[in-house]
Amino acid sequence: MFITIEGGEGAGKSSLIGQLANTMQDKGYRVVVTREPGGIPIAEKIRTVILDPEHTTMDARTEALLYAASRRQHLVEKVIPALEAGEIVICDRFVDSSLAYQGHARGLGIEEVWQINQFAIAGTMPDLTIYMDVSPEVGLSRIASNPDREINRLDLERQSFHERVREGYHLLIDRFPDRIRRVDAEETPDRVLQAVVAIVEQRLSGI
Ligand code: TYD
Repeated sequence: MFITIEGGEGAGKSSLIGQLANTMQDKGYRVVVTREPGGIPIAEKIRTVILDPEHTTMDARTEALLYAASRRQHLVEKVIPALEAGEIVICDRFVDSSLAYQGHARGLGIEEVWQINQFAIAGTMPDLTIYMDVSPEVGLSRIASNPDREINRLDLERQSFHERVREGYHLLIDRFPDRIRRVDAEETPDRVLQAVVAIVEQRLSGI
């Protein structure tokens, strides 16, 4: 089962993923946790180019293509082999991030970004996507109060950008209602985890 976790900045994806993986392992499942952009050396290198705060002149299409390139390498080297070995793969961000950030928020068009990503993923789509919904005010204030978090080029965007990201995710929920499940990420971490575990178990029982 291929599960992706999506959300805007400060939604709490990283903590949720760690807890979800532990919970599923305790239930006897074999779980691989990974993240985009990155997870393997070639993709991590592409990630450092994309997120370097000095790369202020990066063109939006270049950004979209680099994310797609990184996604392809990560999929082939890590995600597909793990799925073939029967593991549950939990991936921090996947194609929906490109659709929401580059397609909608940057204005390239969800359809256009979907096209280049089709080439990159060649049919491998998540079985389930959890969208952790948080308002930009709450998300960005969580980031600001966490001194350990690295600040990247996209964090530095204005609040209106993060509002468009959220709007983009909401459009994606309408487009993929069976695959994407929204979770209220402004709830306490325990309640968020409970809700997500219930969704994952329900999906697993249907497979
Ligand atoms: P990361 O440090 O993983 O941020 P977060 O903790 O919010 O996941 O940085 C990833 C950044 O890249 C994040 O701002 C979202 C953005 N992104 C895109 O714009 N498009 C994409 O396709 C992906 C995977 C990420």
